[in-house]
Amino acid sequence: MKVSLKTIALMAALGLIANVASAQLTGKAITGSKHDFKTAGYVGENGVTFTAYNKCSTCHAAHKPNLNSPLWARALGAGGAWTVWDGAAGAVLDGSDAELLTEAQFATTGSAMCLSCHDGVTAIGGTTMKASFRGNWGRNLSDTHPIARVVDFGTPGMQTDLASGNLGSGSNVVVDVVGGKSYVGCTSCHSMHSSANSPKILRAGERCLSCHNR
Ligand code: HEC
Ligand code: HEC
Ligand code: HEC
Ligand code: HEC
Repeated sequence: MKVSLKTIALMAALGLIANVASAQLTGKAITGSKHDFKTAGYVGENGVTFTAYNKCSTCHAAHKPNLNSPLWARALGAGGAWTVWDGAAGAVLDGSDAELLTEAQFATTGSAMCLSCHDGVTAIGGTTMKASFRGNWGRNLSDTHPIARVVDFGTPGMQTDLASGNLGSGSNVVVDVVGGKSYVGCTSCHSMHSSANSPKILRAGERCLSCHNR
């Protein structure tokens, strides 16, 4: 098909191009960010300092990674013992609740990547995250927005599906897809490299409305 300027203008008006562009948003650069462990190093718990030898290697490994995509270097949820939101009570990922991932499944998701440091337990080059840092979530996530929980698209209060949710919200929210079902994770709202340059690496737009329909 010969794509004329008129066609491109029409596609832009229909939001087709804008939607493609939002899927490839430029994220906050690692350099100079809190995730740059080379430039300034990182002072963790008890004042222990860690300085990486390059800007990517703390998270990614070119050879023998723990997860092939995205060539993930770090231990994923080693030791387990996660508690997640379940109303007031909280629930453990022991496989007894069909709405929740199991611990083994959880270890393969985007959340496990973030929590391989933000659990405050797994070492970042010999030091753990400072206990005083608010983003040190520990392994009790019961007071955090539902993680590892199924997203019931198409039910009352939720969007029909993620694609139309993202189109309406102008965001690029993702879900962890396990066994054909969609689950909430850290990378639903955040992204290390596709976050529209937000300091807290948050995804663009009205991201809550990619799943919720309120
Ligand atoms: C603090 C951890 C961390 C550091 C440091 C890091 N990444 Fe990533 N990277 C991730 C995570 C998490 C993902 C998974 C996707 C996401 O969250 O955006 C990812 C995904 C990727 C991907 C897959 C495609 C994409 O863009 O999502 C590439 C390529 C990549 N990173 C390259 C790099 C390079 C190059 C560097 C060094 C400048 C780097 N990363 C530093 C955490 C990191
Ligand atoms: C290699 C370890 C590591 C990984 C993996 C990692 N982080 Fe971090 N993150 C840190 C450290 C260390 C800090 C700074 C803590 C401090 O200031 O004491 C930080 C800070 C942050 C901040 C605050 C940034 C700011 O400028 O205030 C956010 C938001 C964040 N991380 C989210 C994430 C998310 C989401 C993921 C997964 C996509 C992730 N992190 C993966 C280690 C990591
Ligand atoms: C439903 C969306 C959502 C999910 C899911 C989510 N976050 Fe966040 N996160 C936010 C928002 C919004 C902020 C900024 C406002 C705030 O601090 O509450 C934030 C802030 C943060 C911060 C910065 C705290 C600070 O004080 O600087 C960190 C670190 C972080 N999130 C990590 C995570 C990790 C790790 C996960 C997975 C366990 C996660 N987030 C899941 C929406 C989310
Ligand atoms: C990836 C999809 C997704 C995104 C994005 C998302 N949520 Fe949720 N949210 C859920 C799911 C799934 C539940 C759990 C619903 C249930 O089973 O009761 C939930 C639960 C909630 C609840 C609690 C409802 C209750 O029963 O008490 C609130 C409030 C909420 N979300 C607000 C937000 C806000 C605010 C944002 C944006 C910062 C957001 N959500 C982003 C999927 C999402």
